[in-house]
Amino acid sequence: METIIGTDINLAQQFLEQGNVIGIPTETVYGLAGNALNEEAVLKIFSVKNRPYFDPLIVHTHSLDEVTKYTQQVPQRALDLMEAFMPGPLTVLLPRQSCIPDLVTSGLETVAVRIPNHPLTLSLLKQLAFPLAAPSANPFGYISPTTSYHVYDQLHGRIPYILEGGATEIGVESTIVGFENNQAVVYRLGGLAIEEIERVVGKVLVQTNTSSDPKSPGMLKSHYAPRKRLVLTDAFDITDDELSRVGVIAWDKKVLGVPDHHQIVLSEKGSLKEAAKHLFAAMRTLDETDVDYIIAVRVPDVGLGRAINDRLKRAAA
Ligand code: TXA
Ligand code: MG
Repeated sequence: METIIGTDINLAQQFLEQGNVIGIPTETVYGLAGNALNEEAVLKIFSVKNRPYFDPLIVHTHSLDEVTKYTQQVPQRALDLMEAFMPGPLTVLLPRQSCIPDLVTSGLETVAVRIPNHPLTLSLLKQLAFPLAAPSANPFGYISPTTSYHVYDQLHGRIPYILEGGATEIGVESTIVGFENNQAVVYRLGGLAIEEIERVVGKVLVQTNTSSDPKSPGMLKSHYAPRKRLVLTDAFDITDDELSRVGVIAWDKKVLGVPDHHQIVLSEKGSLKEAAKHLFAAMRTLDETDVDYIIAVRVPDVGLGRAINDRLKRAAA
């Protein structure tokens, strides 16, 4: 199968209406999208990604009105959050309507819904008569793609089309929030900072650690990982002998002694937003060099920094 990269949403629509899966841009990472109401299309998503069926998918749509078609018993706090941050890097878990196939939710009674904030994908969603199930467009366990080329690199020949939407603005996946008796619980740290969420719904619980709980979304201990070994550290401390063989993901300044082409500074001006945007591309770039392993330096653990450190920790596991 030939894989075309282009900006034609009508062509994208045609492929999706025929039950194909395609790459789509969002503001967080690129997704691998198919008709969420068509089991055959959803099966294709799992097989192209090599994803286990126990890992449920996010349903993407274009408006809050649409969200109500796929969900029910929406708590007030969920409504408040959705009104504040959708479209945006937020996914909410809500009781599902029966039109959502079991395959999408892995049999769970909740469905994950999100309105991605990307102009091209929002236009596409508005043209479609169905929502899109879309996991990140990477082989299971690998780093999420933040450009169309990342998607092409790993999935070409397996999908007919990738909608070109530029490098993604946010760079880490959406924050996933569920509700237990109207109390907000964060199951995956992501592109919407906890501080922002708490401004709207008050104190939240953060439950991102357990790896066996099916409610703890895709938070497998090891995930988002490059092929090379990655070590996460607070302070840089290696022998002279290692300096020439190590790749470095640095926070805001280079590490003395490591060759320039073996290190990537996430944000010279110390912006967590910029660092998040560059994180996954940095992992990919160093994965493709000839270094023996990669060392990443932990970033400040506030705002988006928490999601960055979370991804680094999983990449290192
Ligand atoms: O930013 C994002 O969320 C990207 C873009 C493409 O939208 N998507 C994404 O999808 O990261 P994925 O499949 O890589 O991660 C979604 C996570 C999965 O780990 C899954 O376990 C969790 O959401 N999830 C989905 N439905 C769930 C449910 N009903 N209950 C608990 N977790 C759920
Ligand atoms: Mg993923």
